[in-house]
Amino acid sequence: MKITYLGHAAFKLVSPQGLVIYIDPFLKNNPKTPAAMKEVDKADLILVTHGHGDHLGDTLEIAQKTNAPVVAMAELAGYLTRKGLKNTVRMNMGGSYSTKGIRVTMVNALHSSSVTEGDQVIYTGSSVGFVVRFENGFTVYHAGDTAAFSDMKIIGDLYAPHLALLPIGSHFTMDPKEAAYACKLIQPKYVVPMHYGTWPLLTGTTEEFARYLKDQPGIKLIIMNPGTTIE
Ligand code: NI
Ligand code: MN
Repeated sequence: MKITYLGHAAFKLVSPQGLVIYIDPFLKNNPKTPAAMKEVDKADLILVTHGHGDHLGDTLEIAQKTNAPVVAMAELAGYLTRKGLKNTVRMNMGGSYSTKGIRVTMVNALHSSSVTEGDQVIYTGSSVGFVVRFENGFTVYHAGDTAAFSDMKIIGDLYAPHLALLPIGSHFTMDPKEAAYACKLIQPKYVVPMHYGTWPLLTGTTEEFARYLKDQPGIKLIIMNPGTTIE
């Protein structure tokens, strides 16, 4: 399977059978997304962790164009339905959705979620993370925006993700020290840092993260530049 980092918290995952999954597709206005990757022609599934613009991003446009189902927290899915989307999967934490051999589980995150339109702040439920188990058993945990929290141990125990995608930028999420602590709870084989460096406010660095991970030699740190793909 292939995983492409599109910058910030946006990832494209292609399953062994060729299903294309986007997570938090903030592309058009994402300063880190390579120009050639801002347009999406094919998507089979879109997962959105919360309503903030740097995660909801181009979801509406991509879903309308591709007719890919959008998996989101019930209130956020309701918001997208009111915006005209027909194909949403309304979920809540602890729930799983299976399609074509892939299982998506919605897990908790310690963060807020809303959409702002003009002077209106629209409630879009809780912010979440996703665990995606592919048809070959490979399991990816996208933590969304979150602080470190002890229930990450439960996510590790229950779903045993091989790969964790964790925010390290600080200010709105965990910083590198907290993300390294999160790794102790989750125990993934591989970790890819995200949600750093997009704007000056997000000060966490991959160098710091590597330093804090030194006492966990069993976890392989993979630093992905936006636009790169790992298999
Ligand atoms: Ni956020
Ligand atoms: Mn964010």
